[in-house]
Amino acid sequence: TILDIVVNNEIDLDGYGACEGTLTCSTCHLIFSKEVYDSLPDKPTDEELDMLDLAYELTDTSRLGCQIV
Ligand code: FES
Repeated sequence: TILDIVVNNEIDLDGYGACEGTLTCSTCHLIFSKEVYDSLPDKPTDEELDMLDLAYELTDTSRLGCQIV
């Protein structure tokens, strides 16, 4: 997942991925361009959409990084 990439490369994004991918935080919120969003391999699940509703500055092209493989 994108969260794994951040963690494995020790990218210092303060607070990113606080729940470690268990879909309980939304700190891994990412906003993509429309083109990239449409090219992502999977669409968000209902569980991801529920958590995205709590994300700061939600957009139509928002996803949670821990859910993108
Ligand atoms: Fe918590 Fe993605 S890391 S929802």
